[in-house]
Amino acid sequence: MEARVDLEYVRNMFSLEKKVAIVTGGAGALGHAIAQGLAMYGADVVVTGRTLETLLPVVNDIKALGRNAMAVSCDVSVEEDVENLVQKTLKGFGALDILVTVAGIAKRFAAEEFPIDEWQQVMDINVRGTFLCCKHAGKIFKERKKGKIVTISSVRAFAGHPSGYAAYGTSKGAVNLLTRQLATEWAKYNINVNSIAPCIFWTPLTQEVLDNEEMYKIFMSRIPMGRAALTQDSVGAAVYLSSPASDFVTGQILYVDGGTVAG
Ligand SMILES: NC(=O)c1ccc[n+]([C@@H]2O[C@H](COP(=O)([O-])OP(=O)(O)OC[C@H]3O[C@@H](n4cnc5c(N)ncnc54)[C@H](O)[C@@H]3O)[C@@H](O)[C@H]2O)c1
Repeated sequence: MEARVDLEYVRNMFSLEKKVAIVTGGAGALGHAIAQGLAMYGADVVVTGRTLETLLPVVNDIKALGRNAMAVSCDVSVEEDVENLVQKTLKGFGALDILVTVAGIAKRFAAEEFPIDEWQQVMDINVRGTFLCCKHAGKIFKERKKGKIVTISSVRAFAGHPSGYAAYGTSKGAVNLLTRQLATEWAKYNINVNSIAPCIFWTPLTQEVLDNEEMYKIFMSRIPMGRAALTQDSVGAAVYLSSPASDFVTGQILYVDGGTVAG
């Protein structure tokens, strides 16, 4: 057995050249940052969301990096939409190598008052939507005997929080187990399935929480590094888990959280 390091592999291990990625929720704060990051390392990227116009800025940013980009309208909770997304990607770019499931929502209510329709919407988008994207990308990856899936979880999957996250935390807990389940089931097809679990980011989604002094204090008291994440903090983890550098890593939940779950 050759024990020496394959330097050619090491030199190129973060390269995403000639790879095609789908990033769901591409118009959102994290989706935009991750799509741009993957393009920066060489990938062509298909971005999705429910409204095409909102995806134009990210498409332009990817093209400005010299990569191909395409926007596809897709509600991740609708199976037909997801099948169409995968087929359009194959037709437009001839391949699919990476899936990053960023689309997600958060609804906060006291548990005892939680409207069940709102609860269901969180489950439909965060759990069913993540699963449908994995299912249809996974079929292609199985045929090709290769693929990278990166789901997006949250530190809310790790521990409870006093501020109304019953549905959101539960949905992200399901994303964690789905990640491990698919990693176990699809390892034989050489498909890596991992998750990024961020703490709170400065994004439009969290503006309301971070602008509230009392809430801000609660959140910061739980982050040893003492700050909320910046969108760019998610990019290194996404590139790593999409690239050959993580070829022997699967079923992991990578916390990008300033030390939150460490203690
Ligand atoms: N912002 C944070 O602090 C934070 C922390 C931890 C985890 N996360 C997770 O990161 C992901 C992105 O968060 P963000 O802050 O960028 O949020 P965001 O609201 O900016 O982006 C989410 C995107 O998902 C899209 N989306 C929602 N429902 C959809 C559906 N049914 N089909 C297709 N697209 C849909 C939205 O249109 C939006 O573009 C989410 O999964 C969120 O749970 C965010």
